[in-house]
Amino acid sequence: MKCYSDPILPREKGRLINGKTNFLGSGSSGLGKGEADYSGRVPVAGLKIGGARPLIIARAPARCRATDLSPSATMPLPAIKKISVRELRPGMYVHDLDCGWMVHPFLRSRFLVSGEKQIQRIIQSGIRELYIDSARGLDAADAPTRTEVESALECDVVEAGRSAATPPRASVDEEIKRARSVLAEANRAIHTLLQDARLGRRVSVEQTEPVVEKIAESVLRNRGALLSLCAIKTKDEYTYLHSVSVCALMMVLCRAVEMDEKSVREAGLGGLLHDVGKMTTPDAILNKPGRLTDEEFALMREHVVAGREILESTPGITPVALTVAAEHHERFDGSGYPHGLKAQAISPMGQLSAIVDVYDAITSDRVYHKGIPAPAALRKLLEWSRMHFNPDSVHIFIKAVGIYPTGSLVLLESGRLAVVVDQSEGSLLEPRVRVVYDTHKASFVQTYDIDLSRGAGGAERILGYEPPGKWSIDPLSYLG
Ligand SMILES: [Fe+2]
Repeated sequence: MKCYSDPILPREKGRLINGKTNFLGSGSSGLGKGEADYSGRVPVAGLKIGGARPLIIARAPARCRATDLSPSATMPLPAIKKISVRELRPGMYVHDLDCGWMVHPFLRSRFLVSGEKQIQRIIQSGIRELYIDSARGLDAADAPTRTEVESALECDVVEAGRSAATPPRASVDEEIKRARSVLAEANRAIHTLLQDARLGRRVSVEQTEPVVEKIAESVLRNRGALLSLCAIKTKDEYTYLHSVSVCALMMVLCRAVEMDEKSVREAGLGGLLHDVGKMTTPDAILNKPGRLTDEEFALMREHVVAGREILESTPGITPVALTVAAEHHERFDGSGYPHGLKAQAISPMGQLSAIVDVYDAITSDRVYHKGIPAPAALRKLLEWSRMHFNPDSVHIFIKAVGIYPTGSLVLLESGRLAVVVDQSEGSLLEPRVRVVYDTHKASFVQTYDIDLSRGAGGAERILGYEPPGKWSIDPLSYLG
């Protein structure tokens, strides 16, 4: 099985990853359970894991201030620590298998480790690191706390965010209406296409090309508009909108790595068709709310090979699109499927598709987990990147969509909540935001915009991101 974890913030290319503060997604684990755990803000004295394998030992640099960081909840969890699976011992209490939303073979995500046999099963499941609760079991004295891990990641994200965004050709308010129309058309097209595949009919590439072109144009005018719309999916239409979203994200990322426009379109087509093989997967497995059995998981994995076979018999399909379909579940450390390709054995297109596929999956509500906010997902990608993704590509992706992607809800220093409406030309850390709510007064406000990069907000700055559901706010309703 596939499970998301990583060797906790290794020293990369001589660069220390430092940090303070923050949160990473649903307790790194609860993704599959829909429980968001926004942990808090504590100073970092140093991070290392597992005694014999120090990974980060660094104090947060002055340039990475607490107020640079995310988000607003503040309850530290000192007992939750991240360890290598090799350090797992009977008597430790597993708090989080760090599998993201993926299915794992254990009945519960949290349990007391009873013996070596159980540990071996965890290892065989592909889990490399996990979180333990030292208050409920044996401790790992030198292991970093989850807050420390998340703080270090946050600083890495912040560093990535110090670059300027490419200015959009149209504002999100201008583009959002067109993007809604493009999304509706794309949804209809992919629905028809996937139904054809389900019925064993030939898939028509010609019908999808105009859709890909319109998506390409929309994200070129303003990537945040269509991407923020794609983030909202009902559980029933997940497969279709996920295809559209991966199409759009692939084109955004491919442009960010400066591919030519022909390759960008081909990558977009690959994204649109990447899960066509799921039309051969029984609905009972695709939509199963609970944990898949080993046999069901094996059937699910077959969608990659099935998709390749469908596309190989599709006239007009390009090698790029085939590659995206064939390699989007391969992982940088060789733990992916179907071939377990490793590092550069995975094509560049395959590496990029893995990033956007996971990003869209974990930000989406599914039958078996609740999606996490986009900023949390980016940090999670970074956490997992040392194992599963090309770290350089993850950094490029974060820069492409923004530290706080359009449509994110953020908390400002004034205590007001704002929706990110556009990335600024100054810094990804200082987007243009639309203030909507005052947390001190617990009331909505007359909306107004601030371009944080131009000092137009006075002392205003972003403290962190917030889950919209916590405040019953629909960010999309403030766009356009
Ligand atoms: Fe897939």
